[in-house]
Amino acid sequence: MPVRFFTDDHLREAGSLKWTGMSRPDGGPVIGAWVAEMDFATAPAVADAMKGAIDSGLLGYQPSWLAGAVAEATASFQEERFGWSLDPDHIRLVASVLPALRATIEHLTAPGSPVVVPTPAYMPFLTIPGELGHPVIEVPSRHGDDADGRGWALDLDGIRAGLEAGAGLVVVCNPWNPTGRVLTRAELAALDAVVADYDALVFADEIHSPLILDPATAFTSYARLSPEAASRAVTATAASKGWNIAGLPSAQVILPDGALRERWDERAAHLSHGATTIGAIGAIAAYRHGIDWLDEVCAIVAGNVAIVADALAGSPIDFTRPEGTYLTWWGFADAGLGGAPADELLSRAGVAANAGRALGAGYEQWARINLACSPDAAARIAEAALSIL
Ligand SMILES: Cc1ncc(COP(=O)(O)O)c(C=O)c1O
Repeated sequence: MPVRFFTDDHLREAGSLKWTGMSRPDGGPVIGAWVAEMDFATAPAVADAMKGAIDSGLLGYQPSWLAGAVAEATASFQEERFGWSLDPDHIRLVASVLPALRATIEHLTAPGSPVVVPTPAYMPFLTIPGELGHPVIEVPSRHGDDADGRGWALDLDGIRAGLEAGAGLVVVCNPWNPTGRVLTRAELAALDAVVADYDALVFADEIHSPLILDPATAFTSYARLSPEAASRAVTATAASKGWNIAGLPSAQVILPDGALRERWDERAAHLSHGATTIGAIGAIAAYRHGIDWLDEVCAIVAGNVAIVADALAGSPIDFTRPEGTYLTWWGFADAGLGGAPADELLSRAGVAANAGRALGAGYEQWARINLACSPDAAARIAEAALSIL
């Protein structure tokens, strides 16, 4: 099923956030490589389902059958893609993933308890807890020689120290935005062994799990480790990244543990109201009929990663090949730039990336770059990065 690429001009004219949200100081053209959107049209099956819903007049309030249909499609996808057998009754429809994180902090952790966030981290993980009166404990992750040959790894001692300091929640992003790591079952089990020593929950953000780039890479949900792990895990996922429909909120929270599910239902059931009908219909179509298309997207992103890795080889840019997601993490500490890499990339080379400083303290010389683009754009992004050295 061919994936339809949009051209730079189309994306600018259509006015997508990724392509119009950042401009170059000199007004020159910009390649959008920041916010988590893809430069591809969504899967035809998803587009057809959403258009069909509009044509059928499904533009009113959320129909009562929708949450159940989403839960069944989510369970079917999780089983077929990852072999996780779930009871659809254990899956909740929510507006999107970040409100689920908010609800977890607000309603399921002790007031004011800190939140442990391994860094580098998706930016809102570092700001949302503070907005709710919960301090963030940033735990810089292990990197390079210190990361067991994996590029990046969680610092379990740091996470333990955060829990020891009273944290009530650990946020685990897998696949990991921005490093692209897919945490292994063994890594998750080691984390769970730490969390189990404390009265704490894990927010497992698995929004990027459809985007495992190599089919040979196994993906395991934290909650799947054991019933005990499930009893402390709020798992959030969505079709919004994998099928590029983030503007139509609809996400899922998976709660296999009865007691935790009961707590969620008492305090956070209202989150289902924010899900859009069209987004939920898109998610159902994605999970049930969008798999061939998704496989092709994963292959395209993997190809882009190879293009970039080849181009950057031998340069001072620190680039770990992502195993999942199209978001990638580039280190410029050895490049001797005059300023922050994202500023230099934008002003000198016309690439709009995310500034590393927003993803955690100590990452000022890093940038997050989105490779969900055409192979040609990926090559131009790599060339642009080399041009600022
Ligand atoms: C790891 C991660 N979690 C959550 C979100 C946002 O999810 P939502 O739009 O469902 O709130 C993103 C978006 O980029 C993300 O990368």
